[in-house]
Amino acid sequence: MNWDETTDEAAPQAADRLVGASADGEDQAVEAALRPKDLDEFIGQEKVREQLDLVLRAARARGATADHVLLSGAPGLGKTTLSMIIAAEMAAPIRITSGPAIQHAGDLAAILSSLQEGEVLFLDEIHRMSRPAEEMLYMAMEDFRVDVIVGKGPGATAIPLELPPFTLVGATTRAGLLPPPLRDRFGFTAHMEFYEPAELERVIHRSAGLLDVEIDPAGAAEISGRSRGTPRIANRLLRRVRDYAQVKADGHITRDIAAAALGVYEVDGRGLDRLDRAVLEALLKLFGGGPVGLSTLAVAVGEERETVEEVAEPFLVREGLLARTPRGRVATPAAWAHLGLTAPQGKPGASGQADLFGA
Ligand SMILES: Nc1ncnc2c1ncn2[C@@H]1O[C@H](COP(=O)(O)OP(=O)(O)OP(=O)(O)O)[C@@H](O)[C@H]1O
Ligand SMILES: [Mg+2]
Repeated sequence: MNWDETTDEAAPQAADRLVGASADGEDQAVEAALRPKDLDEFIGQEKVREQLDLVLRAARARGATADHVLLSGAPGLGKTTLSMIIAAEMAAPIRITSGPAIQHAGDLAAILSSLQEGEVLFLDEIHRMSRPAEEMLYMAMEDFRVDVIVGKGPGATAIPLELPPFTLVGATTRAGLLPPPLRDRFGFTAHMEFYEPAELERVIHRSAGLLDVEIDPAGAAEISGRSRGTPRIANRLLRRVRDYAQVKADGHITRDIAAAALGVYEVDGRGLDRLDRAVLEALLKLFGGGPVGLSTLAVAVGEERETVEEVAEPFLVREGLLARTPRGRVATPAAWAHLGLTAPQGKPGASGQADLFGA
């Protein structure tokens, strides 16, 4: 049975959430300082790193411009970071823009025609580009040529414009939304996975070094376990724990300090925050574990329907705590266990029912 009936919409996260994966103003400022600068510094994603290393080495050896690269994966996993690394490894300049910024084909033509030979063009949120710009991009990627349309109506003429060879690095949180003709024009596609706890611990140690913060291995482990497999969240939680350690202790981060700090910020042992837990609690305590409709659930926690669906649910689904079914939202046995509650008889999660979820 397909429990997940909804699409995996890229979640626009509420900006004030400590565990939201999108970047807020503070992140953007700090991220520049914490970004790994080359492939060796980039932690985890072993397969992607190995493959990309080959692609870039081979291009360098041939003295050629690297093939176009598509990076897909959830927010905060390192797509922007990797695009900058590609440029650095190729010793090439990088131009950064995004799909939503290119609304007219003319915008894209202006950017493309001003690229230098070998330059990396980073196109973030490439799935959100307008259709005409997308079609112009097909030709630019394949033939390094664009047709600039001059004039309107029957008198309009297409003036072909040669482009220098460049490397397009496209990033998307929704690879499934890319039209196949666009996807096929990338010579290399990398799908970024969520990070393992041990990898996030390395990210945390590295960032702590750069931020000049002392941290025990156990302290790093405590933070990594609550970081939702996402380096951006790991770095953000590290900064909040550092604040706590400075104010409440001597600045040194131990396991106890990390746990106490994250308790203050209401990020629990599994990385759930207040909203996530409110949703689960309502589902379990008010609706006996469901199924319950999304709107009803949203009213019960006093949030907008979209907030519950796009901000809280993706992580709860990924963690196997909540399932989206055709009849409504349902708590899994793991949800009852996580909140320390016992499922009523006859509900998934009650004894003898766990197999319903393959748990
Ligand atoms: N592999 C990694 N090793 C170390 N730090 C990393 C790694 N990947 C990401 N980071 C850190 O996480 C932060 C967020 O990464 P980045 O901005 O590249 O994510 P993104 O995938 O582009 O996110 P979005 O989809 O929101 O644009 C970076 O500032 C960087 O410090
Ligand atoms: Mg990015």
